[in-house]
Amino acid sequence: MIDFEIHRNPQPVTATEREALLANPGFGRVFTDHMVTIRYAEGKGWYDARVEPRAPIPMDPATAVLHYAQEIFEGLKVYNRVDGKLGLFRADANARRFVDSAHRMAMAPLPEELFLGSIRHLVNVDREWVPSDGESSLYLRPFQYASEVFLGVRPSLEYLYVLIASPVGSYFSGGVKPVTLWVSTDFSRAAPGGTGAAKCGGNYAAGLIAQAQAIEQGCDQVVYLDAVHRRYIDELGGMNVFFVYADGSLATPELNGAILPGITRDSVITLAREEGRTVTERPVTIDEWRDGAASGEIVETFACGTAAVLTPIGRVRAAEGEFVIGDGGTGPVTSALRQSLVDIQYGRIADSHQWTSII
Ligand code: PLP
Ligand code: COI
Repeated sequence: MIDFEIHRNPQPVTATEREALLANPGFGRVFTDHMVTIRYAEGKGWYDARVEPRAPIPMDPATAVLHYAQEIFEGLKVYNRVDGKLGLFRADANARRFVDSAHRMAMAPLPEELFLGSIRHLVNVDREWVPSDGESSLYLRPFQYASEVFLGVRPSLEYLYVLIASPVGSYFSGGVKPVTLWVSTDFSRAAPGGTGAAKCGGNYAAGLIAQAQAIEQGCDQVVYLDAVHRRYIDELGGMNVFFVYADGSLATPELNGAILPGITRDSVITLAREEGRTVTERPVTIDEWRDGAASGEIVETFACGTAAVLTPIGRVRAAEGEFVIGDGGTGPVTSALRQSLVDIQYGRIADSHQWTSII
């Protein structure tokens, strides 16, 4: 494996300024003193791995990513645990998904050990930036883009991998409270054969117009229907979705190639099954959801993801009307699963799956 050069920031943020920034970081607005960069060139492979002061990246206007959006990213968190150690949650799964996304976008895959090495090196130099109060954490954003200066339409021959880190609180500004979703019937997020299962920037760009509509409609997030039948629930703009039934069982849309294989989704399936619940991965239609909420068969629905953790869904709004799930509040199954997950992440209970690694 290639070695990382460490270039410390000669002008880091002062301790007093950092404390002030960590007090109320919000989501994705505050950044640490350093970043990692690793370069790739066809024929040479990955080279020049370095931790360096966080700074703007100069770019030629003909850099391929600016034109054809050949870009992928990941999202994972470092937790300040109750034992005083810093813990990473299932980073190996993010490393694998980053490789899968690279393949889908015809990019050179970053070896998993370099992905994991970049995280260890960055967190080591920016340790003081991991917040410790409440459910705060250090959100890591690894990304990779086509850095070749070339306007032809073909996979780039050069890539830049970058890792930045951002201390965060809750993704939704209201903290943990039920959100309202907007059912997008005008726009699709992903189609069969498309890029829905890859974590590429283009998926999010395609969803911004629907997200803007959701905000206009007084909603927090978009829930997307499948692109073919316009009936099956795919996922939210940045989260997977689970349905909880009156008999205590759960269902979540199956990995159909159009939705992101969420690591939180996978963890929730495991935790719920350990609680003795039946969890099925299957198609769920918008009609089943609406009718189930009305009849009381569906008692809770929640969204899940690294940024969102588990977030209850209280209401669903569509052009033809709105429905409420349960009493519109946070249900007990959502609360209990959420608690189990964060207890593992913060080291409050035993991690029997070895999901956590200490940095
Ligand atoms: N779906 C989408 C579209 C996402 O952006 C995310 C967030 O990463 C998720 C689902 C949840 O994935 P994970 O649990 O791996 O964070
Ligand atoms: C994440 O949860 O890490 C994501 O990438 C989702 C995004 C909405 C912040």
